Amino acid sequence: MSQIKGQKVQIRAYGVKVLLSRHKEVRRLKRLHFPSGHGNKLWISSWLLMDFFKRKGLSERSKVMDVGCGWGLAGIYCAKKHDAVVTAVDTDPEVFPFLHLHAEVNSVKVATMKRAFGGLTHADLEGFDVLIGADICFWVTLTYSLKRLINRALRSGIKLVLLAGPGRSTFDELAEYFIEKQGGEILKRTVYRPRRIQGRILKIGSL
Ligand SMILES: C[S@@+](CC[C@H](N)C(=O)[O-])C[C@H]1O[C@@H](n2cnc3c(N)ncnc32)[C@H](O)[C@@H]1O
Repeated sequence: MSQIKGQKVQIRAYGVKVLLSRHKEVRRLKRLHFPSGHGNKLWISSWLLMDFFKRKGLSERSKVMDVGCGWGLAGIYCAKKHDAVVTAVDTDPEVFPFLHLHAEVNSVKVATMKRAFGGLTHADLEGFDVLIGADICFWVTLTYSLKRLINRALRSGIKLVLLAGPGRSTFDELAEYFIEKQGGEILKRTVYRPRRIQGRILKIGSL
């Protein structure tokens, strides 16, 4: 079923299915689980990451960590369209039922790990190729923990870090730091699916 009384209950773009809040399975989970740190829906910056990988590619079996994953659609895209091996990380375990529902409807498997950005150790990060995050830098305190996490990830051998955001000042502050310290760059992006979305990607490193 993709409509209730003429209203859409799911959308599809970049080859992934997203269930909307009015979908009966999402409504069922919302009665049981209560994400507290904004992990209550898919945030639109995820589409910027999907668009990046669609254009630039991602080698099969790449190991991808999606931090602050929420419903996990960016990582699910990497698993579904690029056969990546994905671990989705969030400090709030209440997001994982929504992620697993989306993994199931997209016929992929994604591992989950409950960790705060600051709690990810060298041992957690070792062996991954790519670190991604969509709309995770929205408080000043998060800029500090993300600075430390990204530096640790690069020291642990992660080759590419991609953070997407809609253009918040906290994101800009983080980006300035990595442009200066690690040769990062800001990519201004507009995508047109599932609708017109503008934002930025902070890209550090390459594959
Ligand atoms: C705005 S949502 C974005 C979710 C998802 N990336 C997306 O684009 O749909 C921010 C996510 O970051 C998680 N989060 C917030 N603070 C965190 C922290 N310190 N460590 C790990 N995850 C965190 C929240 O639980 C939430 O799922």
